[in-house]
Amino acid sequence: MILVTGGAGYIGSHTVRRLRKKGYDVVVYDNLSKGHRWAVKDAELVVGDILDYARVCEVIKKYGIDSVIHFAAHSLVGESMQDPQMYYVNNVSGTISLLRAMINCGIKKIVFSSTAAVYGEPEEVPIKEDSRLNPTNVYGRTKLMIENILRDYDMAYGLKYVALRYFNAAGADDKGDIGEDHTPETHLIPLVLKAAKGEREDIKIFGTDYNTPDGTCIRDYIHVNDLADAHVLALESLREGRSNVYNLGNGSGFSVKQVIEVAEKVTGKSIKKVESDRRPGDPAVLIASSEKIRRELGWKPVYTDLEKIIQTAWNWELNKGVNM
Ligand code: UFG
Repeated sequence: MILVTGGAGYIGSHTVRRLRKKGYDVVVYDNLSKGHRWAVKDAELVVGDILDYARVCEVIKKYGIDSVIHFAAHSLVGESMQDPQMYYVNNVSGTISLLRAMINCGIKKIVFSSTAAVYGEPEEVPIKEDSRLNPTNVYGRTKLMIENILRDYDMAYGLKYVALRYFNAAGADDKGDIGEDHTPETHLIPLVLKAAKGEREDIKIFGTDYNTPDGTCIRDYIHVNDLADAHVLALESLREGRSNVYNLGNGSGFSVKQVIEVAEKVTGKSIKKVESDRRPGDPAVLIASSEKIRRELGWKPVYTDLEKIIQTAWNWELNKGVNM
Protein backbone atom coordinates (compact mmCIF):
# COMPACT_ATOMS: atom_id res chain seq x y z
CA MET A 1 0.00 0.00 0.00
CA ILE A 2 1.35 3.42 -1.00
CA LEU A 3 0.89 6.51 1.16
CA VAL A 4 0.50 9.66 -0.96
CA THR A 5 0.93 12.78 1.16
CA GLY A 6 -0.60 15.81 -0.49
CA GLY A 7 -2.63 13.48 -2.70
CA ALA A 8 -5.55 15.94 -2.68
CA GLY A 9 -3.43 18.56 -4.42
CA TYR A 10 -2.92 19.24 -8.12
CA ILE A 11 0.00 16.94 -8.98
CA GLY A 12 -0.83 14.51 -6.16
CA SER A 13 -4.38 13.83 -7.36
CA HIS A 14 -3.21 13.12 -10.91
CA THR A 15 -0.51 10.76 -9.61
CA VAL A 16 -3.05 8.90 -7.47
CA ARG A 17 -5.15 8.31 -10.60
CA ARG A 18 -2.15 6.96 -12.57
CA LEU A 19 -1.17 4.69 -9.67
CA ARG A 20 -4.69 3.29 -9.41
CA LYS A 21 -4.79 2.71 -13.18
CA LYS A 22 -1.65 0.61 -12.80
CA GLY A 23 -3.32 -1.40 -10.06
CA TYR A 24 -1.52 0.03 -7.02
CA ASP A 25 -3.33 0.38 -3.70
CA VAL A 26 -3.17 3.93 -2.45
CA VAL A 27 -4.18 5.93 0.59
CA VAL A 28 -4.10 9.73 0.48
CA TYR A 29 -2.93 11.71 3.51
CA ASP A 30 -3.65 15.44 3.24
CA ASN A 31 -4.48 18.22 5.67
CA LEU A 32 -6.64 19.93 3.00
CA SER A 33 -4.90 23.26 3.60
CA LYS A 34 -4.35 23.53 -0.17
CA GLY A 35 -5.76 20.26 -1.46
CA HIS A 36 -9.43 19.47 -2.03
CA ARG A 37 -11.66 16.65 -0.90
CA TRP A 38 -13.23 16.56 -4.40
CA ALA A 39 -9.82 15.96 -5.96
CA VAL A 40 -9.50 12.54 -4.27
CA LYS A 41 -11.68 10.58 -6.66
CA ASP A 42 -9.70 7.36 -6.91
CA ALA A 43 -8.60 6.47 -3.36
CA GLU A 44 -9.39 6.75 0.32
CA LEU A 45 -8.58 10.09 1.96
CA VAL A 46 -7.24 10.42 5.50
CA VAL A 47 -7.28 14.04 6.67
CA GLY A 48 -4.14 14.68 8.69
CA ASP A 49 -0.97 16.72 8.90
CA ILE A 50 2.55 15.47 8.16
CA LEU A 51 3.70 17.29 11.33
CA ASP A 52 1.48 14.96 13.38
CA TYR A 53 4.01 12.18 14.01
CA ALA A 54 1.66 9.92 16.00
CA ARG A 55 -1.07 10.10 13.36
CA VAL A 56 1.34 9.33 10.52
CA CYS A 57 2.61 6.27 12.47
CA GLU A 58 -0.95 5.17 13.06
CA VAL A 59 -1.85 5.47 9.36
CA ILE A 60 1.32 3.63 8.29
CA LYS A 61 0.45 0.71 10.58
CA LYS A 62 -3.27 0.68 9.92
CA TYR A 63 -2.91 0.53 6.13
CA GLY A 64 0.28 -1.55 5.96
CA ILE A 65 2.15 1.16 4.06
CA ASP A 66 5.34 0.02 2.30
CA SER A 67 6.32 3.17 0.39
CA VAL A 68 5.55 6.89 0.32
CA ILE A 69 5.11 9.49 -2.40
CA HIS A 70 5.52 12.82 -0.69
CA PHE A 71 3.84 15.86 -2.28
CA ALA A 72 2.58 17.67 0.83
CA ALA A 73 4.31 21.07 0.85
CA HIS A 74 3.80 24.75 0.32
CA SER A 75 5.00 25.70 -3.14
CA LEU A 76 4.76 29.42 -3.89
CA VAL A 77 8.01 31.26 -4.41
CA GLY A 78 6.71 34.73 -3.50
CA GLU A 79 4.89 33.54 -0.39
CA SER A 80 8.01 31.68 0.77
CA MET A 81 9.95 34.96 0.82
CA GLN A 82 7.22 36.77 2.77
CA ASP A 83 6.67 34.01 5.32
CA PRO A 84 9.78 31.80 5.45
CA GLN A 85 8.80 30.27 8.79
CA MET A 86 5.65 28.81 7.26
CA TYR A 87 7.83 27.12 4.61
CA TYR A 88 10.57 25.89 6.93
CA VAL A 89 8.04 24.46 9.39
CA ASN A 90 5.78 22.74 6.87
CA ASN A 91 8.24 21.71 4.16
CA VAL A 92 11.32 20.96 6.28
CA SER A 93 10.04 20.08 9.78
CA GLY A 94 7.00 18.34 8.30
CA THR A 95 9.17 16.17 6.06
CA ILE A 96 11.60 15.39 8.89
CA SER A 97 8.64 14.26 10.98
CA LEU A 98 7.30 12.11 8.14
CA LEU A 99 10.73 10.54 7.61
CA ARG A 100 11.03 9.82 11.33
CA ALA A 101 7.72 7.96 11.25
CA MET A 102 8.80 6.05 8.13
CA ILE A 103 12.15 5.02 9.55
CA ASN A 104 10.69 4.01 12.92
CA CYS A 105 8.13 1.86 11.11
CA GLY A 106 10.76 0.31 8.83
CA ILE A 107 9.59 1.99 5.59
CA LYS A 108 12.52 2.71 3.35
CA LYS A 109 11.13 3.92 0.02
CA ILE A 110 10.10 7.48 -0.82
CA VAL A 111 9.50 9.52 -3.95
CA PHE A 112 9.97 13.20 -3.15
CA SER A 113 8.58 16.25 -4.99
CA SER A 114 11.48 18.57 -5.59
CA THR A 115 11.64 21.53 -7.95
CA ALA A 116 13.61 23.34 -10.62
CA ALA A 117 13.85 26.12 -8.03
CA VAL A 118 16.81 24.24 -6.47
CA TYR A 119 18.97 25.50 -9.36
CA GLY A 120 18.23 29.22 -9.04
CA GLU A 121 19.55 31.25 -11.97
CA PRO A 122 20.99 28.52 -14.21
CA GLU A 123 24.58 28.55 -15.47
CA GLU A 124 23.66 26.38 -18.45
CA VAL A 125 20.49 25.65 -20.41
CA PRO A 126 19.10 23.01 -20.68
CA ILE A 127 19.68 22.32 -17.01
CA LYS A 128 21.13 18.95 -16.07
CA GLU A 129 20.88 17.27 -12.67
CA ASP A 130 24.54 17.95 -11.91
CA SER A 131 24.22 21.68 -12.66
CA ARG A 132 25.02 24.08 -9.85
CA LEU A 133 22.44 24.09 -7.03
CA ASN A 134 21.91 27.64 -5.91
CA PRO A 135 18.28 28.37 -4.98
CA THR A 136 17.38 32.05 -4.94
CA ASN A 137 14.26 31.71 -2.80
CA VAL A 138 13.11 30.06 0.42
CA TYR A 139 10.87 27.57 -1.36
CA GLY A 140 13.80 26.22 -3.39
CA ARG A 141 15.99 26.14 -0.29
CA THR A 142 13.45 24.02 1.64
CA LYS A 143 13.39 21.48 -1.18
CA LEU A 144 17.19 21.37 -1.45
CA MET A 145 17.46 20.89 2.32
CA ILE A 146 15.23 17.83 2.08
CA GLU A 147 17.24 16.43 -0.84
CA ASN A 148 20.35 16.69 1.37
CA ILE A 149 18.56 15.07 4.32
CA LEU A 150 17.43 12.21 2.08
CA ARG A 151 21.02 11.62 0.96
CA ASP A 152 22.20 11.49 4.58
CA TYR A 153 19.36 9.17 5.61
CA ASP A 154 20.14 6.88 2.71
CA MET A 155 23.76 6.57 3.87
CA ALA A 156 22.87 6.14 7.53
CA TYR A 157 19.59 4.22 7.47
CA GLY A 158 19.39 2.81 3.95
CA LEU A 159 16.36 4.96 3.10
CA LYS A 160 16.00 4.81 -0.70
CA TYR A 161 14.62 7.87 -2.45
CA VAL A 162 13.94 9.41 -5.82
CA ALA A 163 13.77 13.21 -5.85
CA LEU A 164 11.93 14.59 -8.89
CA ARG A 165 12.76 18.18 -9.80
CA TYR A 166 9.68 19.48 -11.56
CA PHE A 167 9.79 22.33 -14.03
CA ASN A 168 6.43 24.02 -14.79
CA ALA A 169 3.54 21.62 -14.25
CA ALA A 170 0.51 22.38 -16.43
CA GLY A 171 -2.67 20.91 -17.91
CA ALA A 172 -5.24 18.53 -16.50
CA ASP A 173 -6.35 14.94 -16.90
CA ASP A 174 -8.18 14.27 -20.20
CA LYS A 175 -11.24 13.14 -18.27
CA GLY A 176 -11.61 16.78 -17.18
CA ASP A 177 -12.75 16.03 -13.63
CA ILE A 178 -9.54 16.93 -11.78
CA GLY A 179 -7.18 19.82 -12.45
CA GLU A 180 -5.40 22.86 -11.12
CA ASP A 181 -7.25 24.89 -8.49
CA HIS A 182 -5.20 27.17 -6.27
CA THR A 183 -6.40 30.00 -4.05
CA PRO A 184 -4.95 32.48 -4.73
CA GLU A 185 -3.92 31.44 -8.23
CA THR A 186 -0.50 32.75 -9.24
CA HIS A 187 0.48 30.47 -12.12
CA LEU A 188 0.59 31.74 -15.67
CA ILE A 189 -1.56 29.23 -17.58
CA PRO A 190 -4.60 29.14 -15.25
CA LEU A 191 -4.50 32.94 -14.98
CA VAL A 192 -4.39 33.34 -18.76
CA LEU A 193 -7.34 30.93 -19.10
CA LYS A 194 -9.33 32.81 -16.46
CA ALA A 195 -8.75 35.97 -18.50
CA ALA A 196 -9.98 34.11 -21.62
CA LYS A 197 -13.05 33.00 -19.69
CA GLY A 198 -13.77 36.57 -18.60
CA GLU A 199 -13.11 35.91 -14.91
CA ARG A 200 -10.19 38.34 -15.01
CA GLU A 201 -9.87 41.53 -16.91
CA ASP A 202 -6.34 40.95 -18.17
CA ILE A 203 -3.08 39.09 -17.81
CA LYS A 204 -0.03 40.91 -16.53
CA ILE A 205 3.23 40.08 -18.27
CA PHE A 206 5.91 40.20 -15.58
CA GLY A 207 8.91 41.73 -17.36
CA THR A 208 9.45 42.41 -21.05
CA ASP A 209 13.15 43.27 -20.86
CA TYR A 210 14.67 39.84 -20.21
CA ASN A 211 17.49 38.61 -22.38
CA THR A 212 15.21 36.34 -24.44
CA PRO A 213 14.00 36.67 -28.08
CA ASP A 214 10.75 38.48 -27.14
CA GLY A 215 11.94 39.88 -23.80
CA THR A 216 9.64 37.69 -21.65
CA CYS A 217 10.61 34.74 -19.43
CA ILE A 218 10.93 31.29 -20.91
CA ARG A 219 9.70 28.19 -19.07
CA ASP A 220 9.48 24.46 -19.71
CA TYR A 221 5.83 23.36 -19.38
CA ILE A 222 5.23 19.72 -18.60
CA HIS A 223 1.83 18.04 -18.55
CA VAL A 224 0.69 16.90 -15.12
CA ASN A 225 -0.03 13.35 -16.37
CA ASP A 226 3.50 13.04 -17.73
CA LEU A 227 4.74 14.16 -14.32
CA ALA A 228 2.41 11.66 -12.66
CA ASP A 229 3.72 8.80 -14.83
CA ALA A 230 7.26 9.68 -13.78
CA HIS A 231 6.26 9.12 -10.14
CA VAL A 232 5.04 5.62 -10.95
CA LEU A 233 8.33 4.84 -12.73
CA ALA A 234 10.31 6.36 -9.85
CA LEU A 235 8.46 4.22 -7.34
CA GLU A 236 9.08 1.11 -9.41
CA SER A 237 12.79 1.97 -9.68
CA LEU A 238 13.03 2.12 -5.88
CA ARG A 239 12.35 -1.60 -5.84
CA GLU A 240 15.80 -2.00 -7.38
CA GLY A 241 17.26 -0.23 -4.38
CA ARG A 242 18.82 2.79 -6.06
CA SER A 243 18.39 6.37 -4.87
CA ASN A 244 18.33 9.02 -7.55
CA VAL A 245 17.53 12.58 -8.59
CA TYR A 246 15.82 13.43 -11.87
CA ASN A 247 14.69 16.55 -13.71
CA LEU A 248 11.23 16.52 -15.23
CA GLY A 249 10.47 18.83 -18.10
CA ASN A 250 9.60 18.65 -21.78
CA GLY A 251 12.96 20.03 -22.83
CA SER A 252 11.55 22.94 -24.81
CA GLY A 253 10.91 26.47 -23.65
CA PHE A 254 8.02 28.87 -24.28
CA SER A 255 7.99 32.56 -23.45
CA VAL A 256 5.17 34.22 -21.51
CA LYS A 257 4.04 35.91 -24.75
CA GLN A 258 4.07 32.58 -26.62
CA VAL A 259 1.98 30.94 -23.88
CA ILE A 260 -0.62 33.70 -24.16
CA GLU A 261 -0.67 33.37 -27.97
CA VAL A 262 -1.23 29.60 -27.79
CA ALA A 263 -3.97 30.14 -25.18
CA GLU A 264 -5.69 32.62 -27.51
CA LYS A 265 -5.59 30.02 -30.28
CA VAL A 266 -6.94 27.22 -28.06
CA THR A 267 -9.72 29.30 -26.50
CA GLY A 268 -10.59 31.37 -29.56
CA LYS A 269 -10.63 34.48 -27.33
CA SER A 270 -8.44 37.51 -27.42
CA ILE A 271 -6.77 38.18 -24.09
CA LYS A 272 -5.89 41.64 -22.81
CA LYS A 273 -2.19 41.86 -21.94
CA VAL A 274 -0.66 44.42 -19.60
CA GLU A 275 3.11 44.78 -19.63
CA SER A 276 4.27 45.02 -16.01
CA ASP A 277 7.45 45.06 -13.96
CA ARG A 278 9.52 41.96 -13.43
CA ARG A 279 8.44 39.66 -10.61
CA PRO A 280 11.34 39.41 -8.14
CA GLY A 281 13.24 36.13 -8.20
CA ASP A 282 12.19 35.02 -11.71
CA PRO A 283 15.08 33.52 -13.71
CA ALA A 284 14.95 34.49 -17.42
CA VAL A 285 15.08 30.95 -18.80
CA LEU A 286 14.36 27.57 -17.17
CA ILE A 287 14.52 24.58 -19.49
CA ALA A 288 15.14 21.03 -18.30
CA SER A 289 17.28 18.33 -19.70
CA SER A 290 15.27 15.21 -18.84
CA GLU A 291 17.67 12.89 -20.64
CA LYS A 292 18.59 11.11 -17.42
CA ILE A 293 15.08 9.92 -16.53
CA ARG A 294 14.37 9.03 -20.18
CA ARG A 295 17.54 6.97 -20.34
CA GLU A 296 17.44 5.35 -16.92
CA LEU A 297 13.71 4.85 -16.30
CA GLY A 298 12.39 4.92 -19.86
CA TRP A 299 10.16 7.93 -19.13
CA LYS A 300 8.65 9.46 -22.26
CA PRO A 301 6.33 12.47 -22.13
CA VAL A 302 3.13 12.03 -24.13
CA TYR A 303 1.89 15.64 -24.08
CA THR A 304 4.84 17.30 -25.80
CA ASP A 305 2.82 19.95 -27.59
CA LEU A 306 1.99 23.14 -25.65
CA GLU A 307 -1.29 23.54 -27.52
CA LYS A 308 -2.39 20.09 -26.36
CA ILE A 309 -1.33 20.86 -22.78
CA ILE A 310 -3.27 24.12 -22.73
CA GLN A 311 -6.28 22.41 -24.35
CA THR A 312 -6.54 20.00 -21.38
CA ALA A 313 -6.25 22.92 -18.94
CA TRP A 314 -8.98 24.79 -20.85
CA ASN A 315 -11.32 21.76 -20.75
CA TRP A 316 -10.83 21.64 -16.99
CA GLU A 317 -11.31 25.39 -16.59
CA LEU A 318 -14.62 25.24 -18.49
CA ASN A 319 -16.01 22.20 -16.65
CA LYS A 320 -14.54 22.40 -13.19
CA GLY A 321 -17.64 23.74 -11.48
CA VAL A 322 -19.53 20.48 -11.96
CA ASN A 323 -16.71 18.35 -10.59
CA MET A 324 -16.03 20.02 -7.27
N1 UFG B 1 3.88 35.20 -15.16
C1 UFG B 1 3.36 36.38 -15.72
N2 UFG B 1 2.16 36.83 -15.27
C2 UFG B 1 1.44 36.18 -14.32
C3 UFG B 1 1.95 34.99 -13.77
C4 UFG B 1 3.18 34.53 -14.21
O1 UFG B 1 4.00 37.00 -16.56
O2 UFG B 1 0.36 36.66 -13.96
C5 UFG B 1 5.18 34.71 -15.63
C6 UFG B 1 6.19 34.55 -14.53
O3 UFG B 1 6.85 35.75 -14.28
C7 UFG B 1 7.08 33.45 -15.11
C8 UFG B 1 6.12 32.59 -15.94
O4 UFG B 1 4.98 33.42 -16.16
O5 UFG B 1 8.02 33.99 -15.95
C9 UFG B 1 5.67 31.34 -15.23
O6 UFG B 1 5.22 31.69 -13.92
P1 UFG B 1 4.47 30.70 -12.96
O7 UFG B 1 4.12 31.45 -11.72
O8 UFG B 1 3.38 30.00 -13.68
O9 UFG B 1 5.56 29.58 -12.64
P2 UFG B 1 7.06 29.75 -12.06
O10 UFG B 1 7.98 29.49 -13.22
O11 UFG B 1 7.26 31.00 -11.34
O12 UFG B 1 7.09 28.62 -10.94
C10 UFG B 1 6.76 27.27 -11.14
C11 UFG B 1 6.29 26.69 -9.82
C12 UFG B 1 7.38 26.72 -8.79
C13 UFG B 1 8.62 26.07 -9.33
C14 UFG B 1 8.99 26.64 -10.66
C15 UFG B 1 10.12 25.85 -11.23
O13 UFG B 1 5.17 27.41 -9.33
O14 UFG B 1 6.95 26.04 -7.65
O15 UFG B 1 7.91 26.57 -11.57
O16 UFG B 1 10.35 26.21 -12.55
F1 UFG B 1 9.65 26.27 -8.47
